[in-house]
Amino acid sequence: MRALLVAGARPNFMKIAPIYRESLMYPRVDCRIVHTGQHYDHSMSDIFFHDLGIPEPDFHLGSGSGSHAVQTAKIMMTFEKLCEQERPALVMVVGDVNSTLACGVVAKKLGCRLAHVEAGLRSFDMTMPEEINRMVTDSISDDFFVTEESAARNLLKEGKDALSIHLVGNVMIDNLFYQLGKIEKIDPRTFSVFSLKQENPDYVFLTLHRPSNVDCRRTFEGIATALNVIASERAVFFPVHPRTAKSIAEFGIRFSSNIHLLSPLGFQESLFLWKDAKVVLTDSGGLQEETTALRVPCVTIRENTERPITVEVGSNILAGTTPEGIINSYRKSLNGRNPSGIPPKWDGLASERIWRVLGGYSEGIIL
Ligand code: UD1
Repeated sequence: MRALLVAGARPNFMKIAPIYRESLMYPRVDCRIVHTGQHYDHSMSDIFFHDLGIPEPDFHLGSGSGSHAVQTAKIMMTFEKLCEQERPALVMVVGDVNSTLACGVVAKKLGCRLAHVEAGLRSFDMTMPEEINRMVTDSISDDFFVTEESAARNLLKEGKDALSIHLVGNVMIDNLFYQLGKIEKIDPRTFSVFSLKQENPDYVFLTLHRPSNVDCRRTFEGIATALNVIASERAVFFPVHPRTAKSIAEFGIRFSSNIHLLSPLGFQESLFLWKDAKVVLTDSGGLQEETTALRVPCVTIRENTERPITVEVGSNILAGTTPEGIINSYRKSLNGRNPSGIPPKWDGLASERIWRVLGGYSEGIIL
């Protein structure tokens, strides 16, 4: 059975790595990796393939950047050609980036079975491009692999058949546990950020890249005000996403010298830093989940989250985007918070469950 596993942007690579590895356990599955090229810089793409232990993509569509319409259209055109050539029985898409939507639509129109990994998450904020990507992809998928119960409930409310919804756990966490095992065996002195960590043992780790936070001058300046207050207390390590770097330059955002601006980091270097951080400040989706799995306090610089379980178990605080909201949440996160637990099935076995479900249909159909 030919399956195409699609990845395009940085957060996708972490998700496909464990799914790909697990596919190798099924001799009748011929799982091929498609890289749409949505992210293309070495530090946003290649370094992840290297770090995550996945082979070079079988197919590289080279779509690159552009407006949403341009980028989505380029991915659709090239992926359609690929599907016509490869005739996959199954297309698996992960997460909520433009590549997820683009390849999902193409696959479904060509009559392929479409599986969505990380289905059902909803922020209920239609100003987020990812919310639109999630809703469109889920409206046409055949198999829904979900990370938390809220996602299953959302899909049921949207009229999906309960038999097609599978609470399998979280492939991000499969990857996290796998990589933790790997970095324990690496000499930490080989990490480029080793001495930074040694010199500032009590630090905050920060990521920021959402258009709603960094494309709007007023919002970004407010966030920077809060970050400068936090940096007066402890060092802040900040790997800067290309979108954010552009805005820093364009708006002339000024940061305290105790905010260490770093180039985007590979997965292992990033994990090496955030796993021991006093607090993680972020607007990323994945990091809210990864910090939850390791019980690292997380402050999310957003008004909402599509991952409510991270707040329910107590590891994540939604701060909003005002300076007061961010500073207050940061202080709360420092003061004796006690996460109550790890969400069900975030145990490193999600990919195994996914392939077991697909195998269940198999009896002649898929595997
Ligand atoms: C995309 C995803 C977002 C995800 C994020 C992770 C969508 C709609 N958004 O946002 O959900 O959280 O990836 O990083 O799919 N650029 C480079 N080099 C690269 C890639 C991008 O310099 O390798 C620059 C380009 O100028 C581009 C900008 O960054 O215009 C934004 O890239 P894009 O892929 O459009 O969206 P992200 O903000 O990365």
